[in-house]
Amino acid sequence: ETTLGAAAAQTGRYFGAAVAAGRLGDSQYTTILNREFSSITPENEMKWDATEPARGSFNYGPADRIVSHARANGKRMRGHTLVWHSQLPAWVTNIQDANTLRSVMNNHITNVMTHFKGQIEAWDVVNEAFADGTTQLRNSIFRQRLGDGFIEEAFRTARAVDPAAKLCYNDYNVEDWNAAKTQGMYNMVRDFKARGVPIDCVGLQSHFGSGGAPSAFRTTITNFAALGVDVQLTELDIAGAGSTQYSNVVQACMAVARCTGITTWGIRDSDSWRASENPLLFDRSGNKKPAYDSVLAALNGG
Ligand code: G3I
Repeated sequence: ETTLGAAAAQTGRYFGAAVAAGRLGDSQYTTILNREFSSITPENEMKWDATEPARGSFNYGPADRIVSHARANGKRMRGHTLVWHSQLPAWVTNIQDANTLRSVMNNHITNVMTHFKGQIEAWDVVNEAFADGTTQLRNSIFRQRLGDGFIEEAFRTARAVDPAAKLCYNDYNVEDWNAAKTQGMYNMVRDFKARGVPIDCVGLQSHFGSGGAPSAFRTTITNFAALGVDVQLTELDIAGAGSTQYSNVVQACMAVARCTGITTWGIRDSDSWRASENPLLFDRSGNKKPAYDSVLAALNGG
């Protein structure tokens, strides 16, 4: 196959990109998106500050523009993200009372998931809840007010709202099996599966330095999959976009049946949140970079 999406589809996988609503008017951008990618994750438009900037006041305009572009062009959609300590409006951070925050969190999940019901294949229900370098949750407003159980509560609420959507836990710096943070996340997923807390997938964000994935990356994918959840590489980018580094990542996913798809965090280097590192598969002029060819070859089984 000659495009990323078609090549990934040969093994039942998707190959996606993070998309910004503000770039949908750029025809170079949409030409590459429509041709190459089979899945879309909104880069910012489904986050709390975008969707509920004031309590009970929901705004779906930019996210709806991305969803309609996806529908019109036959793309799958990932939802990102329902509960995250960042890009959280001050009115949420300022809530002192646990019961108020609990009902605000559940109302947010309910309203957003209901609005997009039937359009989103998988949701990042909770994003980045673990603290770097430890096995523990970070001290977010949600943990401070609701305790560690806020994650379980969010997943139970999400399942009730849209039973057909896959529910994912998504985090970064959890790609190396030998990292404490990876172990903390693994223990949580294992506990959820053991107790019947609804969870279907984990997202390994996969923001890598120039060396690419850690050597124990494949072990991490294998071990999460063995818990009975799908694994998705949700925000892939690699400083310098080395060909070998990119193909190693794709091969690690392809080696595990339950690694069901890969998303790069943007399309061209100029679209990236770390643009100065040129971490993506297309250059600023929209040309395919050498890493593109190595990814395509890996998806084609080469
Ligand atoms: O839209 C406003 C604009 O109106 C304003 O004038 C401008 C001034 O700062 O800010 C614009 O918002 C920015 C937004 O991106 C849209 O461009 C925010 O400041 C900026 O903080 C935001 O950055 C995003 C970042 O998440 C926020 O944490 C990045 O685009 C986005 O790529 C990044 O994505 C995250 C994932 O969601 C979670 N994992 C890590 C990943 C990279 O940080």
